[in-house]
Amino acid sequence: MAYLDGKTAIVTGAAQGLGEAFATRLAQEGANLAIIDLKPAVHDVGVALRKLGHGVLVRQGDVANRGDCEALVRDAAAQFGGVDILVNNAGKWTRSLVTDPWEKAVADFDEIMDTNVKGALMMGRLCVAEMLKRGGGDIVNISTYYVLPARSEGTNSPSTDCYNASKWAMNGFTGPWALALADKNIRVNGIAMGATDTAMLRGLFKPNDPPAEAVNSWMRPEQIANLMIDLFKDGRSGENIGAWAGYPVELGPRQRADSLLRWRPDFTGEPLRIYGPPPWDDVPPMRNVSFAGPVKR
Ligand SMILES: NC(=O)c1ccc[n+]([C@@H]2O[C@H](COP(=O)([O-])OP(=O)(O)OC[C@H]3O[C@@H](n4cnc5c(N)ncnc54)[C@H](O)[C@@H]3O)[C@@H](O)[C@H]2O)c1
Repeated sequence: MAYLDGKTAIVTGAAQGLGEAFATRLAQEGANLAIIDLKPAVHDVGVALRKLGHGVLVRQGDVANRGDCEALVRDAAAQFGGVDILVNNAGKWTRSLVTDPWEKAVADFDEIMDTNVKGALMMGRLCVAEMLKRGGGDIVNISTYYVLPARSEGTNSPSTDCYNASKWAMNGFTGPWALALADKNIRVNGIAMGATDTAMLRGLFKPNDPPAEAVNSWMRPEQIANLMIDLFKDGRSGENIGAWAGYPVELGPRQRADSLLRWRPDFTGEPLRIYGPPPWDDVPPMRNVSFAGPVKR
């Protein structure tokens, strides 16, 4: 019996890149999949997933659209009997600077926030309602290492302020959801990775191809998908899991975050499965980092 046999996972933005890798890995572990993407290629991913032998529901749709989110979660629950896992992966990226023209600034903000933040909020709210009926679940918000201490130059680029802000906003969901759901057997974490070889990252180099040296230093979507499965098996909650190109792609040590819990009136000091961010002390100073290339699992 596979690890996720009988479970149902929803992955947003699954037509390519990280979302496709997450969906594939979850299906390999036995889960039924419900996937959504703006791009018609999501149907091709659905065909590949079906070959892995489990239930697959495919929607070409928009996570910024309330009706599309409602229909996806409702149909997944009806078809598979519930929802156990949500991967909030769909994300948009664009160049945006504080000095941009006004009209561009407002349009960029709406486009990025509607998908990266409102989409995550709506999918989270809808899936939590289903997970509560099931008595548990796992949520992963796909963030970026921009929200973690820098280990290389280029972090928190000034030319992507809307994107950066959207991923910081996602932190505002991950922690509070983890706390609110700690005694409901629902774990909530972020995966906050750096350069991973996808169309989004390659798009930064357009109209040119990225240099081979850069590509060789990037992580692969499959490595991050393996990290996600390790995270589910580990069972921790309330963390942003970092993954930096050039460092081992693996779960860091857990840390009890009593400080996160003490605000709760019902906190008694009993161990809850809530852990805080990784210890920051081991982060090497910026500009003192060598890129050794991705580490194969
Ligand atoms: N690739 C990286 O280096 C990297 C690093 C850090 C974080 N991320 C994050 O990982 C996630 C996946 O990125 P990727 O690199 O695979 O990018 P990608 O552009 O290759 O894939 C993103 C997918 O999301 C879909 N999508 C976008 N908006 C959507 C919407 N409103 N509704 C439905 N689908 C939508 C796109 O059509 C696309 O198929 C994103 O949240 C991104 O911010 C990526």
